[in-house]
Amino acid sequence: MRQGAVQFYDEQASTTTLRDEVLQGLGARPKRIAPKFFYDERGSRLFDAICELPEYYPTRTEMAILESCADEVARLAGADSTLIELGSGASKKIRLLLEALWPRQYFGIDISREFLLESVQLLARDYPWLEVHAACADFTQDLDLPDCPGSGRKLVFFPGSTIGNFEPRDALAFLERVRRLIQPGGALLIGVDLKKDPQVLHDAYNDSQGVTAAFNLNLLERLRTELGAELNLENFRHRAFYNATRGRVEMHLVSRRAQEIRVLGKRFRFEADETIHTESSYKYSVEEFHALARRAGLQPRQVWLDSARLFSVHYLGVIRRQRPAVA
Ligand code: AVI
Repeated sequence: MRQGAVQFYDEQASTTTLRDEVLQGLGARPKRIAPKFFYDERGSRLFDAICELPEYYPTRTEMAILESCADEVARLAGADSTLIELGSGASKKIRLLLEALWPRQYFGIDISREFLLESVQLLARDYPWLEVHAACADFTQDLDLPDCPGSGRKLVFFPGSTIGNFEPRDALAFLERVRRLIQPGGALLIGVDLKKDPQVLHDAYNDSQGVTAAFNLNLLERLRTELGAELNLENFRHRAFYNATRGRVEMHLVSRRAQEIRVLGKRFRFEADETIHTESSYKYSVEEFHALARRAGLQPRQVWLDSARLFSVHYLGVIRRQRPAVA
């Protein structure tokens, strides 16, 4: 489908629905709901607000790293590439890369149709020399891009340390899918949050204005408005902490008391202090992330850090496997 100057592909068929996720996740022990369900319109706005918070260092730190390495990325990627962005299109980060790389094509992929359309149309308006494609798809499930004519060398851009929201085995499977997508010759530019002082992490996920708490609790608001759930928001609170053993920040919704909620005709019991695990945000040292990437068949080629070593941006190519010698 052509929308303005954008070639748009709707690929949403394989997406797990909020309904299925909630029925399964609230029936499980411990209770859980996947973090991708944070991002309805209000959730996306709250996330944008999180990115501006003084305590939430990842966004501005990654941006500063990209500002300093964009020209080197352009040299590594070469001319005439297809830039594939997973997850957005609205950020300043992609504009920075477009202006350094001058790719032939841009491909934006996001689960939120309206948000994606709006952002890629702005890119098409502001960069008239760029061929803009967009696919509404859940890239956590699959990464089959529609064939677009004339695609050159592929550079996948996956910013924001969203890889940290995947369980390590899912992160590995995801990186393998990226490797198959980019083929030898292509590359992945990925932002990865680093392990650091737990107090810095605690503050980043427990901000003083309560925006992260509102972002977490918005998930319950979605259950009320979209699934007609009978629950009282006041009976839950936000909790986030660094789990050093697992190397991840965990976010939970904590039941303030023993209670029962109803969703889609089903009852779910909570003990006092029982939680719904809503997000894990894994933190990697550079060495840990390199090891994961190599297991996925990706070759670390460059890594950039900020001076306080809060965040990392990696440039990875594809490991070329040696063909066995023919006897
Ligand atoms: C999108 N993702 C990388 C964010 C993170 O830090 O894990 C989501 C977030 N959760 C709370 N604050 C921000």
